[in-house]
Amino acid sequence: MTYADVYASWQSDPEAFWMQHAQAIDWDTPPSRALNSDNAPLYEWFTDARVNTCYNAVDRHVVAGHGDRTAIIYDSPVTDTKRDITYAELRDDVAALAGALRDKGITKGDRVIIYMPMVPEALTAMLACARLGAIHSVVFGGFAANELAVRIDDATPKAIIAGSCGIEPGRIVAYKPLLDGAIELSTHKPDFTVVLQRDQQPCDLIEGRDFDWQEITQAAPSADCVPVEGNHPAYILYTSGTTGQPKGVIRPTAGHLVALNWTMKNIYNVDPGDVFWAASDVGWVVGHSYICYAPLIAGNTTIVFEGKPVGTPDAGTFWRVCEEHKVRCFFTAPTAFRAVKRVDPKGELIKDYDLSALENIYLAGERADPDTIEWMQHHLKKPIIDHWWQTETGYTIAGNPVGIELLPIKLGSPTVPMPGYDVQILGDEGHPVADGELGAIAIKLPLPPGTLPTLWNAEERFKKSYLNTFPGYYETGDAGYKDDDGYLYIMARTDDVINVAGHRLSTGGMEEVLAGHPDVAECAVIGVSDELKGQLPLGFLCLNAGTDREATDIVKECVQRVRDTIGPVAAFKLAVVIDRLPKTRSGKILRGTMVSIADGKDYKMPATIDDPAILDEIKVSLKTLGYAGG
Ligand code: COA
Ligand code: AMP
Repeated sequence: MTYADVYASWQSDPEAFWMQHAQAIDWDTPPSRALNSDNAPLYEWFTDARVNTCYNAVDRHVVAGHGDRTAIIYDSPVTDTKRDITYAELRDDVAALAGALRDKGITKGDRVIIYMPMVPEALTAMLACARLGAIHSVVFGGFAANELAVRIDDATPKAIIAGSCGIEPGRIVAYKPLLDGAIELSTHKPDFTVVLQRDQQPCDLIEGRDFDWQEITQAAPSADCVPVEGNHPAYILYTSGTTGQPKGVIRPTAGHLVALNWTMKNIYNVDPGDVFWAASDVGWVVGHSYICYAPLIAGNTTIVFEGKPVGTPDAGTFWRVCEEHKVRCFFTAPTAFRAVKRVDPKGELIKDYDLSALENIYLAGERADPDTIEWMQHHLKKPIIDHWWQTETGYTIAGNPVGIELLPIKLGSPTVPMPGYDVQILGDEGHPVADGELGAIAIKLPLPPGTLPTLWNAEERFKKSYLNTFPGYYETGDAGYKDDDGYLYIMARTDDVINVAGHRLSTGGMEEVLAGHPDVAECAVIGVSDELKGQLPLGFLCLNAGTDREATDIVKECVQRVRDTIGPVAAFKLAVVIDRLPKTRSGKILRGTMVSIADGKDYKMPATIDDPAILDEIKVSLKTLGYAGG
């Protein structure tokens, strides 16, 4: 079968296509039908099935006689630790933690926040929730207490599972003060927390509220898998939108299992037992889908890597891990390869390792720039596969289905839509535009199984954010075009979201933080191009009349404020004080024009600009930071 055959078979009968692939899942009650359109334009899949995610990711492999197979390889250059965990051991660990959680009152439908570094216990925690039908929400360790608090108030968790610390090169990040700070800040209070004490920095526990992971897992009887309805939320993952209030993307249980399992052979071309490595973090969607769930559902070995592409200890780390663990499929963000390329431009370190087991390398999370892909192609001599997806979908919208057939690679394109996705490029009026023309990228409803059915506690926001602009379509928030061969090109966001080192961030959220500074009257944050991280946030600050403090002090305080409120991951380090913001006569800030100026690109003077002279002032300020050709 070719890609065209498979796509056509999905198109001719989407429900039959997904019902067929649903057979690869172990159901407690199999679905009688695939799609549920009762509440259109909100759709659900496999609603009447009953199933457990943890059973499919862990127990069923043990039952099938693969208990001795390695489920997780923990490779942590920052702590100098390596550990293999078999499927049988993983089942026991997960069942023990699930038992402890159940003992403390966690049942199906309860929310549990997980705030952990890249240790295998992060996966154990996710799977323990899944075992009980509890809904986890993992929060990335690079977020500060306030971001954690916002998520606590939205998800209202009964429990929080945390590590005592994370390890960043050169520093230990104590999680406990962040956890305590978040619980202090939030209106909702969890009943209890579970803390994994790490040797690198254990923490004090609050009597009666905080429980030691080791102690409680030893004390309670282990728990069995609890079957849940097909549309039961497996997890909530918060992602950036246009405001500081993140969106709680819901992942539905049954569709998640069916779709992720399908991707492992068809997109990543791996078979059960193969080693699959996604170098990301469990706090992001890539970590949910491809460090934890998909490789385990498909019976692969997954790698939990606690380190960075460079500096832990060098830019050969990726290749060392690939050689040592015989990785067949490797997946990370382009920014990680840009970091490697910068340190090892001639690819000298690659030559030190035997990469014969490695077949394909996948990129996602941000636009894969042709320079980086060419560098990788040249030095690795393997297919470098870009694929495009979002937190909302949880897996590939457009990619190269290597397990079906490797389609010709075109630089700058993540290739073609996957079965399940009817991707259209729409003009302002909502009609498809001609090939080669730029437009908003939209997906015809219904979205396939596993994608978000709605937002947690925010159905109206879901409709407003994704469904209302183009009735009958899901609005991706990305702009781009299709070429004559149907290849997609993802060029930019249509909203305020920026992508910094593969991390999705809201400039609106940063503006809210800056606006809270007592001397700031008005502000704007834009994403400027950066060779390593793709984009970097840059803030423009207009001060209150009469402020006579040094601008440099205010900038410093603003940078610290974003770090303290959103977290170091925002990478907000650039800001300038200016007199006024460039606006249209109706008062809209001309962010796009500011981005063009900062990137040194040609721009058209907006016809509606209030005062064109401001743009010259902006240019001068940006030059002081080395932007706008400075
Ligand atoms: N906990 C605490 N702090 C964290 C963190 C975590 N889990 N992850 C990142 N940070 C901190 C970093 O230490 C850094 O702090 P600093 O300002 O004190 O230096 C800050 O957040 C910014 O992090 P990052 O943008 O990741 O920059 P970096 O310089 O540390 O590393 C790369 C740059 C490219 C090497 C790194 O971003 C990377 O490996 N990216 C891989 C891509 C990826 O995982 N993408 C996810 C989606 S696929
Ligand atoms: P996230 O939800 O964090 O995965 O971010 C999703 C966004 O990242 C998308 O909407 C795109 O803007 C961008 N993105 C992800 N993958 C790609 C890709 N392969 N090419 C271009 N942009 C991408």
